[in-house]
Amino acid sequence: MKILVATEKPFAKIAVDGIRKVVEDAGYQLVLLEKYTDKNQLLSAVADADALIVRSDKADAQVIESAKNLKIIVRAGAGYDNIDLPAATAKGIVVMNTPGQNSNAVAELAIGMMIFMARGQFKGISGTELKGKKLGIHAYGYVGKAVATIAKGFGMDIYAFDPFISNDIMINDQVKPVASVEELYKISDYLSLHIPANEKTKKSIHYELLSLLPKGATLVNTARKEVICEESLKKMFETREDFKYVSDVAPDCHNELLKYEHRYYSTPKKQGAETAEANINAGIAAAKQIVAFFKHGDKTFQVNK
Ligand code: 3PG
Repeated sequence: MKILVATEKPFAKIAVDGIRKVVEDAGYQLVLLEKYTDKNQLLSAVADADALIVRSDKADAQVIESAKNLKIIVRAGAGYDNIDLPAATAKGIVVMNTPGQNSNAVAELAIGMMIFMARGQFKGISGTELKGKKLGIHAYGYVGKAVATIAKGFGMDIYAFDPFISNDIMINDQVKPVASVEELYKISDYLSLHIPANEKTKKSIHYELLSLLPKGATLVNTARKEVICEESLKKMFETREDFKYVSDVAPDCHNELLKYEHRYYSTPKKQGAETAEANINAGIAAAKQIVAFFKHGDKTFQVNK
């Protein structure tokens, strides 16, 4: 049984060692394709793989089509918008993610980005504090919840909107649930995005919503660039001199926004889940899920049901 780990952005070595141990202890073979630069490398590596572990690597219809033996794809992480689910389902391939495994790393970065913006991007000017500010968490999944946990320690006033999570869960975390997304945007000094990218959410963060943000608000995006309507983002920068945007998922209009130097920052390359801990957690969970699937038919984290 061949388990292919295909990562353009490789896991930390310690995580790869852990994945190898899980795979080899199960009697399977680990094949590594790291830092590949050409899709053809992935197409040929996947050709005889039985299982595939990826990060944000694109497993599109062509990749899935060229994988003759593939039975399972595990996205070592949360968002599986990089995998063509209909193509996988059509071939009877099980697709899973590893929910929660890298969420603390992303949450720490989101809070770090808030401090970075509050302190004038560490350029030595007088800034502001997070304490007492209103934090709006848009989607209260694993990352949203972890952001709330950390923000509590900073003394932030925390609100969340998530139609799929019960109010009781938020209240139990000392987070105030709000009834609508508009209400959340209206009150948030810091708005942290944690929605997935799918057909419903793409470009859903538009001007009508953004313009509700209070004066001096900072939008923090450690989720996906696709959820933002970029025309709206540009309009916000043009019409609201107080608006700030910090991102770990650079927008296509990145170069156009660079002129707003004190109000805009994006990491050059997505690094939310780039920690040894997140790599170990998500990578080893992915390997264990594959072993459990082959040995026991366990499909617990399947997302293409
Ligand atoms: C995720 O969806 O898990 C995060 O965006 C991390 O993505 P990465 O594995 O490409 O860093």
